[in-house]
Amino acid sequence: MVPTGPRTLAETIETPGSTEAASLDRAANDRVGRRDFLHRGARAVGWCGLGAMLVGGGAATAGFFFPRVLYEPPTWFVAGKPESFSPGEVNERFVASQRVWIVRARAGIYAVQARCTHLGCSPSWFTEEQLFKCPCHGSNFNLAGDVVAGPAPQPLFRVSLKLDDEGQIVVDRALAENRPGAREAGGFLLRL
Ligand code: FES
Repeated sequence: MVPTGPRTLAETIETPGSTEAASLDRAANDRVGRRDFLHRGARAVGWCGLGAMLVGGGAATAGFFFPRVLYEPPTWFVAGKPESFSPGEVNERFVASQRVWIVRARAGIYAVQARCTHLGCSPSWFTEEQLFKCPCHGSNFNLAGDVVAGPAPQPLFRVSLKLDDEGQIVVDRALAENRPGAREAGGFLLRL
């Protein structure tokens, strides 16, 4: 039968043997707890490392299937109909955006690259003098693009042009030519 009344002094005082056993028990429990905690921590670190490896590997694989691509602006542009350029005109409409002059000479229409052949500065067109003049070291070029003064070693380049199905001039800066004879051939001169 379980006593229900107040405990005696003897019942409340633990014996020395039982106290020692209890403290040994607690120490053992503490050790097990610490070991368990360390094991769980190590497992968590291991899983995190494995997860990071998988994520990194997945990203590398995705990168293989979706390579990074540089999207450059197109090299060509539509300049308009030939009749929108006046005879004898050096049109500067596309110099700022495309670095190209459209020239309507007696022989036809051609597109001149606004890039000095000395060190690449941007020349300007001077109507009164009928010259392209480079501000950097003084090279001058005539209407055909030939060097008439300064250190530029060769004529200005012309870029290719053609008419599309709607009769519009399409200029493509990807192809350039500056050799007399070749620059007057089809592809670099639109005969009218
Ligand atoms: S860059 Fe034009 S003259 Fe030097």
